Amino acid sequence: EMPRRVRLVEVGPRDGLQNEKQPISVADKVRLVDDLTSAGLHYVEVGSFVSPKWVPQMAGSAEVFAQIKQKPGVTYAALTPNLKGLEAAIEAGVSEVAVFGAASEAFSQKNINCSIDESLARFAPLMTAARENGIQVRGYVSCVLGCPYEGEVDPKRVAHVAHELFAMGCYEVSLGDTIGSGTPGKTRQLIEAVSREVPRDKLAGHFHDTYGQALANIYASLQEGVCTFDSSVAGLGGCPYAKGASGNVASEDVLYMLNGLGIETGIDLDMLIAAGQRISDVLGRPTGSRVARARLAA
Ligand code: HMG
Ligand code: MG
Repeated sequence: EMPRRVRLVEVGPRDGLQNEKQPISVADKVRLVDDLTSAGLHYVEVGSFVSPKWVPQMAGSAEVFAQIKQKPGVTYAALTPNLKGLEAAIEAGVSEVAVFGAASEAFSQKNINCSIDESLARFAPLMTAARENGIQVRGYVSCVLGCPYEGEVDPKRVAHVAHELFAMGCYEVSLGDTIGSGTPGKTRQLIEAVSREVPRDKLAGHFHDTYGQALANIYASLQEGVCTFDSSVAGLGGCPYAKGASGNVASEDVLYMLNGLGIETGIDLDMLIAAGQRISDVLGRPTGSRVARARLAA
């Protein structure tokens, strides 16, 4: 039984742009976020409050928050790895934040410079402060279907970290296929395993499209009852700590598939394609969305 409605979490301005080497102006980032909400996205991950030494491209996130047109009913979120990040995010006017852990020790070290257990311990005071400020927290688990350093990752390890995040108060846990190596059968097994710890309606799928499997993995997740997916307009991005990883699945392509399945999202495909085209022009390269390319050629 497929869900009738799907919630799309747009991560292009964060997961997409964080990996860009060329400077992107605050104005271009603001335009992207506003274009996305005009297209009907109800949730946009706008930026990150992380160390600017680690991810320089996200250093201007507070300015981006200051300049976007915040529409009622839209969630404007940011990544926050620690209390310092949360404080900066609240100061900037976020509606929600996300913490990010991993199911692989090696990836945790490379990405956030601590072990999995240390990361969970760091999130605890953040959760308390967020609750006191009325800020909801989303949780990410990276490397759910493979790690760039450790290879195979046992679904039980993913289930454990997902459980810890949910138990500490994350309202939803997004399962990140950081390197895009997952396939549909493994995706279903993963969701079976994780749903023993976290209810399916509290899970989200976050598929990078490195191996071209993301849409198939989303379809498999839909069959498992997952109804929230992260995607990136124009397929922007990668991960600075996962070499060779390409962007998230393109939002346009996910929307086209969902439209074809008769699943509601509230998003306008033509406006989403236009948003993707505008940021691709800024970056000076063709869009990573197959649907946008097909429309352009038609
Ligand atoms: P650290 O060096 O261990 O931290 O880094 P520290 O607490 O020792 O601080 C070191 C310096 O960073 C200090 O500055 C702090 O003030 C500063 P200094 O004294 O050297 O000038 N600092 C901060 N500055 C701004 N904002 C902060 C902050 N915290 C400390 N919040 C840390 C630990 C977590 C900070 C670092 O490793 C970091 O920032 N990592 C971010 C990595 C990142 O953003 N990765 C990409 C996002 S995750 C992702 O893409 C995966 C996902 O998409 C899902 C998937 O696909 O799998 C979510
Ligand atoms: Mg990601």
